[in-house]
Amino acid sequence: MCGIVGYTGKAQALSPVLEGLRRLEYRGYDSAGIALVVAPGEALWIEKRAGKLANLEQTLGESVPDSHSGIGHTRWATHGGPTDTNAHPHLDNEGKLALIHNGIIENYVDLRSELEARGHIFTSETDTESVVHLLSDARKSHHGDLAAAMREVCAQLRGSFTLLAIHSDEPGRIVGARRNSPLVVGVGNGENFLASDVSAFIAYTKHALELGQDEVVDITSSSIVVTDLAGTVITPREYEISWDASAAERGGFPHFMLKEIYEQPKSIADTLIGRTAGLDPEITAGIDLTGISKVVIIACGTAYHAGLVGKYAIEKWANIAVEVELASEYRYREPAVDSQTLVIPISQSGETMDTLMAMRYARSHGARVFAVCNTNGSTIPRESDAVLYTHAGPEIAVASTKAFTAQLIAMYLIALHLGRVRGVVTKELSDEIGLELAELPSKVEQILETVEPLRALTRQFKDATSMLFLGRHVGYPTALEGALKLKELAYMHAEGFAGGELKHGPIALIDQGTPVIAVMPPAQSALHEKMASNVMEVKARGAVVIAIGDADLPSAAHNIRIPTSHEFLQPVLAVVPLQVIAYEMAIARGNDVDQPRNLAKSVTVE
Ligand code: M6R
Repeated sequence: MCGIVGYTGKAQALSPVLEGLRRLEYRGYDSAGIALVVAPGEALWIEKRAGKLANLEQTLGESVPDSHSGIGHTRWATHGGPTDTNAHPHLDNEGKLALIHNGIIENYVDLRSELEARGHIFTSETDTESVVHLLSDARKSHHGDLAAAMREVCAQLRGSFTLLAIHSDEPGRIVGARRNSPLVVGVGNGENFLASDVSAFIAYTKHALELGQDEVVDITSSSIVVTDLAGTVITPREYEISWDASAAERGGFPHFMLKEIYEQPKSIADTLIGRTAGLDPEITAGIDLTGISKVVIIACGTAYHAGLVGKYAIEKWANIAVEVELASEYRYREPAVDSQTLVIPISQSGETMDTLMAMRYARSHGARVFAVCNTNGSTIPRESDAVLYTHAGPEIAVASTKAFTAQLIAMYLIALHLGRVRGVVTKELSDEIGLELAELPSKVEQILETVEPLRALTRQFKDATSMLFLGRHVGYPTALEGALKLKELAYMHAEGFAGGELKHGPIALIDQGTPVIAVMPPAQSALHEKMASNVMEVKARGAVVIAIGDADLPSAAHNIRIPTSHEFLQPVLAVVPLQVIAYEMAIARGNDVDQPRNLAKSVTVE
């Protein structure tokens, strides 16, 4: 949930560290801080501030000293409120060792009391501060070797962590470690980087190294050494980042979210490229997809909604039972899983702790794991048997948009692939869906070209206290996604319902003027009329209905037209107006679009 960056090299460290923090701020924005090594043996230079990174930047002024190595942190608070004191980095009592952390140290209470008993003085309420004191002691017992100290300390920690540490006695050296939380290495020329994700250093290098579980990395400007906790040297996987720094910039749009909404024609096309006629054998080389008795999709939030749509497609086209599970609930009910279970974790970041833990549970019970992920080098694909990467590019806005539509595409591709492996999908159907998929980018483009009136219409409802979303079939998960987007961005009560479920309770929520968004099944669908009846039911009770569909619904107060598509593919189109409604509502209500309150992009704690 926090953003972490470290730099060592020829440049003034402040610049790449600050640049990294700007690019990582989407991961957490409760406070930010930087520590720099100034001179051997002297106290570190440190500055940290509660609130957004801009608060820290304002305090920096001209006073920052020369330094060629440093670390920076942007925080999503867990232990201790978002204050200056709780902001990272945390220092040891000599002010010479600084540490930043992402994750949760579960045994911090015990550690803290032991350390206090040994005379360490604590200044914050964080779980992290225990680690810096522990590291300080361990470093002394390892005769000043920070990497050896880090290995010893990690072995004593419970929970999840990415840690980066610097010590002023060792200028130019940064030591990091990871367990269940992301950390990548950026390999530069005469300079090296450590960061939560590659966006932090993409402006400097596109060459990265992936770090595994319980690994410690020790970098200087000219060396990178990775070991396990026993000190055995490990050769990390190298990879090239396939996108440019400009992909992680706003590119003239007022917000990342709007840019990402408008990138969807491209991200859908990129995810489809070369895959409609079948998945490349390289993708599925590591997994046996024959003899599967059920599919379990595990995901959170928006990715979960993509999984719900996937269920409709996989059950229909591959004729196999599918369960879709909220990852945070999955492992705690100890579900029955065996080697005939195919688990599909879906994750934009590839680091979502709930999804990772659910997937590990399934794997440890013999399941085969075929991940859908947007982030190369992240933990979920690394721990899966196979991965279908979505090619949405970096998604910076906290609210997921282009990653969602790319995940939908991945679901359709997997459904068709499983159908082919099982010999149940006909060539005609496969060709038909392939053609329909190929048309989606231009259809999304058409929607985006005609979206302006929807923005004006949205503003009419800016003072509504609640908004309801209705859908049937694949329109139901689409409605859930529309409601989630609105909650997240407009801080407005919003709920999605299956149209047929309304009269079993939720219809009591409808009052005079309640805005209801109806995701209409295509006009040719057998469910169109059923949904039209559901619209009449809410209208009769005072709702103002906005219908999204491929034909006008006469009973609706407002109609938002989308192009006609195959019924199963419609969520890719219908969600676009829903994204625009949430975006516009956030602006109309004066909310922060890209960094909504209380949230973080990548949820790396349970
Ligand atoms: O990185 P992931 O796809 O695993 O993230 C899952 C959810 O946290 C994410 O989709 C979240 O719900 C979004 N902020 C919704 O817009």
